[in-house]
Amino acid sequence: MAPDKPKLLIVEDDAGLQAQLKWAWPDFEVYIAGDRASAIALLRAEEPPVVTLDLGLPPDPDGTSEGFAVLDEIMAIKPDTKVIVASGHGARESALQAIAKGAYDFYQKPVDIEALGLIVRRALQLSKIESENRQLAARGSEDNRVLGRMITAAPEMLKVARTIERVANTNVSVMLLGASGTGKELLARGLHDASDRTGGAFVAINCAAIPENLLESELFGHEKGAFTGAVKTTEGKIELADGGTLFLDEVGDIPLPLQVKLLRFLQERVIERVGSRKSIPVDTRIVCATHQDLEAMITDGRFREDLFYRLAEIVVKIPSLAERPGDAALLAKAFLARFAKEMNPAVKGFAPDALAAIDSWGWPGNVRELENRVKRAVIMTEAKLVGAADLDLVAPEAEGCQVLNLKTAREAADRKVIRHALARSEGNISNTAKLLGISRPTLYDLLKQYDLQA
Ligand SMILES: Nc1ncnc2c1ncn2[C@@H]1O[C@H](COP(=O)(O)OP(=O)(O)OP(=O)(O)O)[C@@H](O)[C@H]1O
Ligand SMILES: [Mg+2]
Repeated sequence: MAPDKPKLLIVEDDAGLQAQLKWAWPDFEVYIAGDRASAIALLRAEEPPVVTLDLGLPPDPDGTSEGFAVLDEIMAIKPDTKVIVASGHGARESALQAIAKGAYDFYQKPVDIEALGLIVRRALQLSKIESENRQLAARGSEDNRVLGRMITAAPEMLKVARTIERVANTNVSVMLLGASGTGKELLARGLHDASDRTGGAFVAINCAAIPENLLESELFGHEKGAFTGAVKTTEGKIELADGGTLFLDEVGDIPLPLQVKLLRFLQERVIERVGSRKSIPVDTRIVCATHQDLEAMITDGRFREDLFYRLAEIVVKIPSLAERPGDAALLAKAFLARFAKEMNPAVKGFAPDALAAIDSWGWPGNVRELENRVKRAVIMTEAKLVGAADLDLVAPEAEGCQVLNLKTAREAADRKVIRHALARSEGNISNTAKLLGISRPTLYDLLKQYDLQA
């Protein structure tokens, strides 16, 4: 038997039909099952892309209950299987019901081998295209990965990633500025992983999450008996990051007295644990982040300017998700693939209304909000495709126009729409042109004019 023949599973309890169907398609590797248990066993073992299913199976050969049970199981185990249902005695209703449950098509009994053959081949063709698409999509999100784990195709964000890569191997301190959920911590880790300190530890401390009176000992450690409750000598986060990277998250929340002590460490690269006068040298790379306006805090006297300049040798501004056109859809697909695999494999993708809503939503909570919405939708939905309602989103009204120069406004609108269309059609030029209602040559011209890439 040629190994590359496509597999076809025939679920049929009538011995005569079994024999007839078995030999009807020499170009398929045909498997026959006469009941639910053997059908499911063959589905699991052989993973046939196409299945024909007689709904009247024992123990209910004259009804449809057992056939529907097989269909449900196939859809639960391998929802991309193309199931073609036999609708006996003109039972159109059960055929339609089967399609609603996820069957691909139906055929009339008595069997017309030639007609059925056409349906089977068409189903196989579709299955091939779908699996190619899945591979392309998977490869697509691999290609859109930067710094290990960051997913983006937006030039604004790619520039950020390139900056991080460039500075990774220097020892300069890096300050990441970005709104909540924009990926500050992910970038800090990416920087550590891309640096030659990757063998050392990446130690993160959220300065806003620790009460003021404990923060000093968290950062610098303490000696046994330094204060009530200090039952044993403990290393601080700075010391733990020796040889690695220290990520000071929400650095704007460090109180002024501690800012002085941190500055001293940055200047002298030695620490003293609380309750000790011994200097311990620590070699660590500092990355910090904040969503606060540090310059305003400096003006108000709430943040030390000298500390700011020590921490911010390089400042990296992270664009909000709304400032990365196309990225929301790209990220949403990647999150959906991940969560579906982990938690609800029946979910296959987004419905078109969901993609449109994702694309137009403002994402005030940035990537974190997107991740949470997709996770909740994947867990809660009962459909194969996640819809806008599952995400708790609706496509909002078109935004008002703030730019008054007509040429600038038109260009900005063109760029935006083209990039959204590219993202929605996953960079496919023909589909993008179709979406935009323009010809392919026109699209190529516009891409060139605006220096955009498909
Ligand atoms: N470009 C991206 N690609 C993939 N995942 C991302 C990306 N950006 C952020 N994430 C994910 O989104 C979540 C939020 O990111 P992260 O914690 O890095 O953001 P943050 O700016 O530190 O947020 P916060 O201000 O809420 O602490 C994380 O689960 C992270 O893995
Ligand atoms: Mg964070």
